Amino acid sequence: MVTTVGTESTFEKLVQNLLILEHDAIAAYQSTIDRLDDQTHKTKIAEFKADHEKHVAELTRMAGALGVEAPTEGDAKQYLTTGKVALASIIGDRTILKAMSTNEIETKMAYDHASKNASATPEAQAFFRQALADETRHKDYMDSQAAA
Ligand SMILES: [Fe+2]
Ligand SMILES: [Fe+2]
Repeated sequence: MVTTVGTESTFEKLVQNLLILEHDAIAAYQSTIDRLDDQTHKTKIAEFKADHEKHVAELTRMAGALGVEAPTEGDAKQYLTTGKVALASIIGDRTILKAMSTNEIETKMAYDHASKNASATPEAQAFFRQALADETRHKDYMDSQAAA
């Protein structure tokens, strides 16, 4: 699905929806790590999962500064194309990485929108640009391995 995360009209909602998306992504990453065979793939994806945990830490800090509740898990909104449940039935490193890559389309789009969202502060927009660069790096690796 094409995500609308990042297009919220308030900074508070933007941060909260990004947190939900990130928690969904982290759950999908864990499912991916559990199912990959190749140790190099597992290590790399665990490294990327740590990037997402940093995103969560910063977003949680932002929610606190804004005085709103910081979601601590994903929900049933299905922001991701291939969430943890769908991933559980996929077999083979290349197929799994290709499926995970579609999730990075969503996270990239969300941070691309967020970095241009006028309700966010310039500091937050700069962080969203950095997160977009992280997600782009994740997707490029997954695509290269899926094609290898
Ligand atoms: Fe992330
Ligand atoms: Fe990612």
